[in-house]
Amino acid sequence: MALILYEAVILFLGMATAFGPVPRITWEPREVHLVHFQEPEVFNYSTLLLNEDKDVLYVGAREVIFALNSLDISEKKHEVFWKVTEQQKTRCAEKGKSKQTECLNYVRVLQQQNDSLLYVCGTNAFQPVCDHLKVTSFELTGRNEDGKGRCPFDPAQSYTSVMVDGDLYSGTSYNFLGSEPIISRNSPQNPLRTEYAIPWLNEPHFVFSDVVRADPDNANEDDDKVYFFFTEVSVEYEFLSKLMIPRIARVCKGDQGGHRTLQKKWTSYLKARLLCSIPDKNLFFNIVNDIFILKTPDSKDSVIYGIFTPQLNNVGLSAVCAYNISTVEDVFAKGKYMQSTTVEQSHTKWLRYNGEIPRPRPGACINKEARAENFKTTLNLPDKTLQFAKDHPLMDDSVTPIGDRPRLIKRDVKYTQIVVDQVRALNGTLYDVMFISTDRGAVHKAISYKNGMHIIEETQLFPNFDPIQTLLLSSKKGQQYLYAGSNVGVVQSPVAFCDKHRTCVDCVLARDPYCAWNPHLSLCVDIFKESETQQDWIQNIGGNASSCTDDVRERSLQHTFKHGSTAELKCSQKSNLAQVVWKFKDDVLKVESPKYRLLEKALLIFNLSDGDSGVYQCLSEEKVKNQKFSQVLIKHVLELKKVHPHTPSPAQPTTRTEGNGEELKASVVTTQGSAVYTSTTPVVTIATSRIVTNPIFPNIMSTVAGIERSELVPEVPEKTLFLKSNDNSLLMSLFLFFFVLFLCLVAYNCYKGYLPDQCLKFRSAMSLGKKKPKADFSDCEQSVKETLVEPGSLMTQSGEHPKPAHDTGYETEADYGNGHVQHDEEHSQSYKEVKDKPFDVKCELKFADSDAEGD
Ligand SMILES: *[C@@H]1O[C@H](CO)[C@@H](O)[C@H](O)[C@H]1NC(C)=O
Ligand SMILES: *[C@@H]1O[C@H](CO)[C@@H](O)[C@H](O)[C@H]1NC(C)=O
Ligand SMILES: *[C@@H]1O[C@H](CO)[C@@H](O)[C@H](O)[C@H]1NC(C)=O
Ligand SMILES: *[C@@H]1O[C@H](CO)[C@@H](O)[C@H](O)[C@H]1NC(C)=O
Ligand SMILES: *[C@@H]1O[C@H](CO)[C@@H](O)[C@H](O)[C@H]1NC(C)=O
Ligand SMILES: *[C@@H]1O[C@H](CO)[C@@H](O)[C@H](O)[C@H]1NC(C)=O
Repeated sequence: MALILYEAVILFLGMATAFGPVPRITWEPREVHLVHFQEPEVFNYSTLLLNEDKDVLYVGAREVIFALNSLDISEKKHEVFWKVTEQQKTRCAEKGKSKQTECLNYVRVLQQQNDSLLYVCGTNAFQPVCDHLKVTSFELTGRNEDGKGRCPFDPAQSYTSVMVDGDLYSGTSYNFLGSEPIISRNSPQNPLRTEYAIPWLNEPHFVFSDVVRADPDNANEDDDKVYFFFTEVSVEYEFLSKLMIPRIARVCKGDQGGHRTLQKKWTSYLKARLLCSIPDKNLFFNIVNDIFILKTPDSKDSVIYGIFTPQLNNVGLSAVCAYNISTVEDVFAKGKYMQSTTVEQSHTKWLRYNGEIPRPRPGACINKEARAENFKTTLNLPDKTLQFAKDHPLMDDSVTPIGDRPRLIKRDVKYTQIVVDQVRALNGTLYDVMFISTDRGAVHKAISYKNGMHIIEETQLFPNFDPIQTLLLSSKKGQQYLYAGSNVGVVQSPVAFCDKHRTCVDCVLARDPYCAWNPHLSLCVDIFKESETQQDWIQNIGGNASSCTDDVRERSLQHTFKHGSTAELKCSQKSNLAQVVWKFKDDVLKVESPKYRLLEKALLIFNLSDGDSGVYQCLSEEKVKNQKFSQVLIKHVLELKKVHPHTPSPAQPTTRTEGNGEELKASVVTTQGSAVYTSTTPVVTIATSRIVTNPIFPNIMSTVAGIERSELVPEVPEKTLFLKSNDNSLLMSLFLFFFVLFLCLVAYNCYKGYLPDQCLKFRSAMSLGKKKPKADFSDCEQSVKETLVEPGSLMTQSGEHPKPAHDTGYETEADYGNGHVQHDEEHSQSYKEVKDKPFDVKCELKFADSDAEGD
């Protein structure tokens, strides 16, 4: 197993393909209606809590807690400052922490205790405290409970918490150094915690926790379960360095600890590996960044969604894996345990335990069966079971994702948070809509279907690309919002932007379960905002837009221009999956001709003449599952102005607009005579607009637009393309370069007298009266040949390292690699050495000697 994981890392380095789907639409912050909340001098808006009954969003930031109107977060209802005292700050600074950043109070826990109180905890200058916050008066009660084990000391450390029936469950660290991890329940009656032992928790990084309720009428009388998710250092795999493993751990709500063994400790703590990998590529995603549990009325259908990245993420891969809650429960309830055995004194190995398992099953919740055997609570459990549970917290079976592979793999993006909404489309099918945030302030909204994944849109929530650290989704359909928190503020975004789709085809091709085309109003509407939906509304999540009848609104612009001038016909479309096609007099325009230049949002026509007048149509063509849908975006009618050679006044170009063309203005660049001016002016304008348009995915858009990509389409690496497209000219010039270098080297060595035979004759001829060196070259000859051959061989044999003839001291054995592929830098370095010192030192000294002898 360890070997497989090792391979994964190696293979991973070679795998730089698989882009993942391109978001169909990219919304810039100014294009959509977003509501921002940020207060001056307040940072780290790290904790969000929503109360949907009261329409309040609570925000925990650094040293302050806010209550905002959740329907419009720019409206602040309350705020309460929660600062560290000067004395505490000084004491914290004395321990070597930064007074300006670390020795402050970072709110880390924000939970609803009951209707009138919030339970809040903060790091409080490395002295975590918890308090109650009165909801109505918005005052802290000043209880200042010790927050140890509920809130981290260090604001940089990971934490997670969930409130279940008035008890706070949290995963954090228990000490100042952050070296003692803990999963605990803070309950006045029944506080419980994890054993402080490596097999239980090994340097965990907590990401999420939540409760999954048992069905109230389940025949087994099963208990509610609290799940924790974290990445920790593996104990079971041996690896060169620390191997990280994503974990799911669970405890039972009814756990009361053991009577003698595991007193005040979890008796139901079990953990398993969360597997997220691409089996056929041997690629493992070993870091879990966030989890969301999509709960359904029937808890059996609940799905756990997770965001993962590989441990060595040098190409920026992210994956989404989904897990069936039944699979999880089966692993804990029926799976094999792992057991550690000591080999060679101090070394321990974790292997599957195949021996007898005590009854009741260790780590199980108290259910009907246990009760029937008179184990009413965990306090009654026999020591044998408890001791086994204490020694075997780790399951041998892994939790495998639905479909045994990720739902989504995306390159060049780091996903940070995920929330999922279940949406019933018009035809009744349920879709899980994922909102996935990035470390660049954007959110991807995606749905998965049978054979892949579709990213409906990408919305830039934070204009300055601040990483999104918390995501929260409200659930009231029709008034549903997504809230995102970062270090600099909070953003509220609608879950859909249906009204931005202007045509039926656009509305349907969005494949957004929230949106449908209302043919009566000719509007793309949010189906959950309408009081009732009608049969003839058009929606097709498969992207079949054939039901759309032609759109009546045709925009048409009229232009009059002069001979020899340049026209810029504007046309823009939002879809990154569509291609723009221009038609002139109903024929597809050959934009490759030098007469035209196709830009991202316009067509340029140079040197206008009589033949160019007519109707230009701009169409967008989008292919979905082998069906192509095209629609006319705009029509431009060009008309030629009669030439009056004697009128020198530079008349303005006239542009008449017909129809609904308020956004699509056309401009015509008119010039007289100067050909140079004609061709340069428009290019400048466009160059700037090109930079502005798509700051996030500029390359993906220009190269991939128009091609529907499902996950894992293998692609030719960019470098290869580059070589091909340059017609081998790069190879040619490289070859020439090295050939010239080779000649220089020969000439230089010949001049220096390092080369025997003809060369030396040539040299002696050149140096005339100088005496022929009598040195014995046999020693050096071989090394000379080898050295000279090397520059060329470096290019051809990429795997082999050049060998100097003697050990010169500047190459070590390790550099030859134990079957490792050499890196380019090493090549160039060794090559440089070859160039600088064409021969080894011994040899050169000999020459010097022989020369001296000769003289
Ligand atoms: C708090 O926000 C500031 C400002 O963006 C950032 O530099 C800092 O790293 C944040 N601290 C934590 C613990 O998140
Ligand atoms: C909320 O909890 C506090 C303390 O646990 C208790 O004193 C108070 O009565 C509770 N309020 C309500 C409305 O249940
Ligand atoms: C999860 O697995 C159970 C049992 O195999 C099955 O009934 C259920 O439909 C699955 N749920 C999902 C969402 O795949
Ligand atoms: C709804 O539409 C989707 C996509 O076209 C299709 O796969 C699904 O079977 C439809 N559901 C029903 C209930 O017709
Ligand atoms: C798309 O829909 C049309 C009419 O609704 C139907 O005739 C056609 O077969 C569909 N195409 C695909 C590929 O499902
Ligand atoms: C412009 O077109 C005319 C004929 O249409 C041609 O004679 C002239 O050379 C062209 N000028 C340029 C700069 O291409």
